[in-house]
Amino acid sequence: SEDLPLKGKKILITAGPTYEAIDPVRFIGNHSSGKMGYAIARTAAELGAEVILISGPTNLGLDHKSVELIRVTSTHEMFVAANSYFEDTDVFIGAAAVADYRPKFVADKKIKKSGDSLSLELTKTEDILASLGEMKRNQKLIGFALETNNEEENARKKLKRKNLDFIVLNSLQDKGAGFKSETNKISIIYPDKKKDFDLKPKKEVALDILNEIIELLNA
Ligand code: PMT
Repeated sequence: SEDLPLKGKKILITAGPTYEAIDPVRFIGNHSSGKMGYAIARTAAELGAEVILISGPTNLGLDHKSVELIRVTSTHEMFVAANSYFEDTDVFIGAAAVADYRPKFVADKKIKKSGDSLSLELTKTEDILASLGEMKRNQKLIGFALETNNEEENARKKLKRKNLDFIVLNSLQDKGAGFKSETNKISIIYPDKKKDFDLKPKKEVALDILNEIIELLNA
């Protein structure tokens, strides 16, 4: 109906950071709070979608009858969960801040302090979005790009390399955008056009993104 434009649609969303273990007490992580991805999940459910939210470690919860919340810790766990639900989904939105590298070896005991320096060897994680981009059939695939420099150029490379329908660019150069804040300032980049949005609450940013998706689904 007019009121519930996402009724009957299945939307899979990733949110929050991933943690990559160094030893039993330490990890490599990042500053994502999950707010952006959770706002998209809640808004999509309010618009009628059935939502599966795969979340890295956050302090947030989401209680809505149409949202299934799946909690994971590492990139590998997020990758496995995303893959297992992808085939059956209409839309995938990658709002998580996923680690690109993880420690190659995870110490099974707490690493003791000893020398003046300590090196960790890192190895690449799975790129969740790129791998879904290869599997994609009719699904709409949406990514985020979090950039600090050469923003649009970097975002366009990710759009193409990961086979996305559009990419949401947020820049750490914009005040009030990106990690943790209640607001975000985005551009939505398509292969052939770009739309710039004002700084606004993440809930409203979520609606802007979902309106673009509704247009894609109705095209
Ligand atoms: O959680 P908040 O505090 O609200 O902050 C929101 C946010 C800044 C985390 C969010 O808006 C955002 O930008 N998320 C993506 C951050 C990111 O990891 O960007 P990226 O440019 O490194 O990755 C590009 C895209 O590929 C992203 O959709 C990412 O989810 C995906 N990716 C990246 C690496 C990887 N190994 N697998 C992936 O799927």
